[in-house]
Amino acid sequence: MIFYFSATGNSQYAAEKIAAVTGARLISIGQALRDGHYEYDIAKDTYLGFVVPTFAWTLPGAVALFLEKLNLKGYGSQYTYGVFTCGESTGSEAAALYTILKSKRITLNNSFDLVMPDNFIIWSDVPAPARLDSMLKSADRTLEGIMETVALKTPGKVDTARPKDLYMPMQEISTSKKTSKLFADEKCTACGLCMALCPMRCIKPDEAGHPLWEGTCTMCLACLHRCPAAAIQHGNDTQKKGRYMNPNVKPPAANTYN
Ligand SMILES: Cc1cc2nc3c(=O)[nH]c(=O)nc-3n(C[C@H](O)[C@H](O)[C@H](O)COP(=O)(O)O)c2cc1C
Repeated sequence: MIFYFSATGNSQYAAEKIAAVTGARLISIGQALRDGHYEYDIAKDTYLGFVVPTFAWTLPGAVALFLEKLNLKGYGSQYTYGVFTCGESTGSEAAALYTILKSKRITLNNSFDLVMPDNFIIWSDVPAPARLDSMLKSADRTLEGIMETVALKTPGKVDTARPKDLYMPMQEISTSKKTSKLFADEKCTACGLCMALCPMRCIKPDEAGHPLWEGTCTMCLACLHRCPAAAIQHGNDTQKKGRYMNPNVKPPAANTYN
């Protein structure tokens, strides 16, 4: 079984490729969070994978929340691994995953970093098409090695020191209290996709169906990147920036994302 979390498709792509060589079932953490589904029977699975993005050099808050609630029946000798997609560099994700899994008596056997296009456009911007293409090709080469290592169940050296941050803290945001930097500009068509995508269910419609952010946000940026009208902004950081979606994944149905 592979648990993956993906706002813009990078981790989903890696999870799908690894699933193809290991015959693993894929579980979307975003969907599981939306459904409140935390119990899984893995007795018949030979691999247990976690494929997630890097947030602030550690695990996304939503992933840590899911892992803490996760109840795996039938865990035994499964080869357990983590793959951390990132835009540039990872940090303590492996140690964080090791620590959380250890508290559940699950042993992390290996972990891998996978550099892919950076979706944190608050600080950066989407690379030009040629650069994007070469980044995706380079990621594919790294991923081939990861797939082979995982398929062969090769153990690796895992960072076991408890990290300072197990996860990037979530943010309490509110449109009404003006604490949300996320907002929809005049291009918003009230299509509702952002609300359907949000793994934390923290986007609600106003009277006209436009989104309001109220509650706990993990900052995955799925709403911002996947808005068909590019209407969702983060303060003044994103008006002139591109939007990113991994071109090699099939856009999933709105309610099966993340
Ligand atoms: C809130 C946030 C924080 C991020 N922090 C980092 C980071 O510390 N290091 C890094 O290399 N990439 C960082 N990124 C980039 C993502 O890890 C990267 O683009 C990832 O592949 C996105 O995965 P996805 O397409 O499956 O959502 C961050 C992205 C977000 C949204």
